[in-house]
Amino acid sequence: MARIRILPENLSNKIAAGEVVERPASVVKELVENAIDAGADRIGVEVENGGRRLIRVADNGSGMSRDDALLAIERYATSKIRHDEDLFAIQTLGFRGEALPSIASVSRFTLATRRPDDDAGTEIRVTGGQIESVRQAGVPPGTMITARDLFFNTPARRKFMKTVATEMGHIGDGLASQALGHPRIHFELQHNQRRLRRWPSANDPAERVAAVLGAALRDDLVPLALETDAVTVSGWVAAPRVNRRTSRGVHIFVNGRHVRDRTVLHAVLHGYRQRLMKGQYPVAVCHLAVPVHEVDVNVHPAKYEVRFVRQQAVHGGVAGAVQAALVSGDRRPRPSSALSSNRNPEPPHAGGVAESGPAYGRPFRPSTPVTQGGSGPRASGLKPAAPPAVIRSASPLPQPALWPGGRFAHLKIIGQFRNTYIICEAETGLILIDQHAAHERIYYEQLRKRARSRNAAAQALLVPETLELDFRAAAVLASMREGLAHVGIDIEPFGGNTFIIRSAPDFLAQSELGPMLQSIIEGAEAAGVTPDPDNLQEESLQIMACHGAIRAHQALDGREIHRLLVQLDECENPSHCPHGRPTWIRWTAGALEKAFGRIS
Ligand SMILES: Nc1ncnc2c1ncn2[C@@H]1O[C@H](COP(=O)(O)OP(=O)(O)OP(=O)(O)O)[C@@H](O)[C@H]1O
Ligand SMILES: [Mg+2]
Repeated sequence: MARIRILPENLSNKIAAGEVVERPASVVKELVENAIDAGADRIGVEVENGGRRLIRVADNGSGMSRDDALLAIERYATSKIRHDEDLFAIQTLGFRGEALPSIASVSRFTLATRRPDDDAGTEIRVTGGQIESVRQAGVPPGTMITARDLFFNTPARRKFMKTVATEMGHIGDGLASQALGHPRIHFELQHNQRRLRRWPSANDPAERVAAVLGAALRDDLVPLALETDAVTVSGWVAAPRVNRRTSRGVHIFVNGRHVRDRTVLHAVLHGYRQRLMKGQYPVAVCHLAVPVHEVDVNVHPAKYEVRFVRQQAVHGGVAGAVQAALVSGDRRPRPSSALSSNRNPEPPHAGGVAESGPAYGRPFRPSTPVTQGGSGPRASGLKPAAPPAVIRSASPLPQPALWPGGRFAHLKIIGQFRNTYIICEAETGLILIDQHAAHERIYYEQLRKRARSRNAAAQALLVPETLELDFRAAAVLASMREGLAHVGIDIEPFGGNTFIIRSAPDFLAQSELGPMLQSIIEGAEAAGVTPDPDNLQEESLQIMACHGAIRAHQALDGREIHRLLVQLDECENPSHCPHGRPTWIRWTAGALEKAFGRIS
């Protein structure tokens, strides 16, 4: 007897379900996508016990005939594609013909459906993939699918389900993403007979964004608008003062499909570069319209990933759109409603909190003291821990200079703390300068000047440095050689995956070259794109500046400190390091007095 057998259909459906139905939220996602494809403008989702006991999605879309309904639960049955070539011109969210049979194979499943013009509808019951009954039924137009007791017949999978709260979190977040992508559709979510969310149809997509992401965000949103032949970008980015600790606030849609795409995510972050600190992520809703034959959506069974034919161009378009939006946002006056919101609770000098420099990109003078972030301590005495919290929010209201003349070089130097922070006195308060961040900024601007003038002082290395890479890293480096030459780094291939660094800018220690190039290559690899010369230049300047700058824990004498302050004054943006960290913070005299209880 042959050892190899074709699997029974029910088993192959369960295998498919393993990929498509990871958890209750995946069932909701597939059913909602079907409803959207069916042209529904009202979609209701009902869940019990985090989706373990019941998941029901009802829509008012096209509905199905009895024959179609029977076909719909067969594997590889779809109304959405017909021919090979359709696979590369997908306009619908579904196309694999797998979702319904997969869900039906791992639950107690009921499909009730009626086309608007039919007198009667159809109800099909399936248990663990076996059809139990098919009957005519009086049901409203549209389709209602119920999946009960998910994974009842696959105990191993059931064990992977998390708490009700966790599963509900995934369901809620998933539905929120769908709602962001389809503002005209009315969505509702119920859990254990209680309504959790309701998003009424919105004519203005901004209304939906505010409804889903929170009305407080509304004033901080800047629209995205950019069109190239590779991609049309629309949506919103939030001002950098609104930021998160994970990338979950970045919602990406490609031709209406919610996806997680590292290239687009990287492009969004790239658009925010220097505006956010390491570890901070923006909030953004990015819609990409890409010609259908230039995007492959058939990458993953759950369709969370896509591939772009012109990846580089898409990356450039998104980064450009985000950057342009943020620049226009910088210039935009803050609406008065935002000023009364809790982000700007009181005059900046009243609270006992430290302030950091003005927002990136804003001129240093007149300076713009920073007000307290919503969550941080406020008016409660001196809180040295406050600075990280306050970086988030910068009031753009013009304020008087922080100290007369507003120059770092005029500060009275008190000394160094832990060989890391420079302590200075200004007439208005106590200033702490992060010596590494400050020097990084100085170096960065000097490098940028040189790079722009195209006369980076490259120096031939006495003993050329060799660099041995793996295949992928070597390919990335080869594609960046020209860009690197612009910043004074000459690299030659030396056979196989080995390269020789012939020259480098004179300020770079030779021992830093290898690690620096490694981090540039890794960054490019992680993004999945070869940086164009400008991006490359930017990134290498940042890394060079960081590697070349004086470190923390380095003793500086008075002359060195003074020189640093003078150079800081020469910077275009002395208040932030190239990664967006503040270079200085201040405690006002008033804040200190308050902390010591001298004034109340
Ligand atoms: N809510 C619905 N309203 C109308 N027709 C539906 C609905 N849900 C499913 N169908 C029909 O059933 C078919 C099968 O659905 P199923 O989700 O299994 O596959 P698909 O959407 O075509 O592809 P995928 O597996 O990628 O989701 C669909 O092609 C569609 O014709
Ligand atoms: Mg589907």
